[in-house]
Amino acid sequence: MLKDDIAKVMFTEEELQKKIAEIGARITRDYADAEEEIYCVGILKGAVVFYTDLVRAIDLPVRFDFMIASSYGSGTVSSGSVKILKDLDYDIEGKHLIVVEDIIDSGTTMNYLMKYFRERKPASLKLCSLLSKPSRRTVDVQIDYCGFEVPDEFLVGYGLDYAEKYRNLPFIGILKPEIYK
Ligand code: IMP
Ligand code: MG
Repeated sequence: MLKDDIAKVMFTEEELQKKIAEIGARITRDYADAEEEIYCVGILKGAVVFYTDLVRAIDLPVRFDFMIASSYGSGTVSSGSVKILKDLDYDIEGKHLIVVEDIIDSGTTMNYLMKYFRERKPASLKLCSLLSKPSRRTVDVQIDYCGFEVPDEFLVGYGLDYAEKYRNLPFIGILKPEIYK
């Protein structure tokens, strides 16, 4: 079974849902007076599971948009270069943007993408990431809404993959090292 490859569960479904409800409530409060809808930009594919739960925890109009950016190959080490494989569908100038990501690791991907979004002159720009691995950071990234800080372990599940596998696990766990060694 899929979960037999997991050494340890890091966050259960219940813990994830509780945190997402909190973040959704914060976003709802913070944007309550915004005159226009929020543009939530999910970074595919990793953020998609978090994204679909998060948007349902926001009690305000949300427009969906997605980007595909790639900095990892199929391994566990960042290559340092970022490629945009799918761009935004909408013009975001003057809009309130919330970027939704699964995990900030070295920070390379998000440092690049936040600059890219900023150049498009949104009215406001915030970053929401479910997870952050601060000990791995090589470039600075400001996370406005952060779910959990995590240690330097390779995590899978709830959108996070190893070689495109495990994204559909409903919880987040530490992958057994023998799987990727
Ligand atoms: P960064 O550019 O090094 O910050 O890498 C960010 C991306 O690397 C994330 O969006 C994930 O796709 C991937 N990533 C980083 N750490 C992990 C992990 O522990 N498990 C699965 N994917 C990860
Ligand atoms: Mg990702």
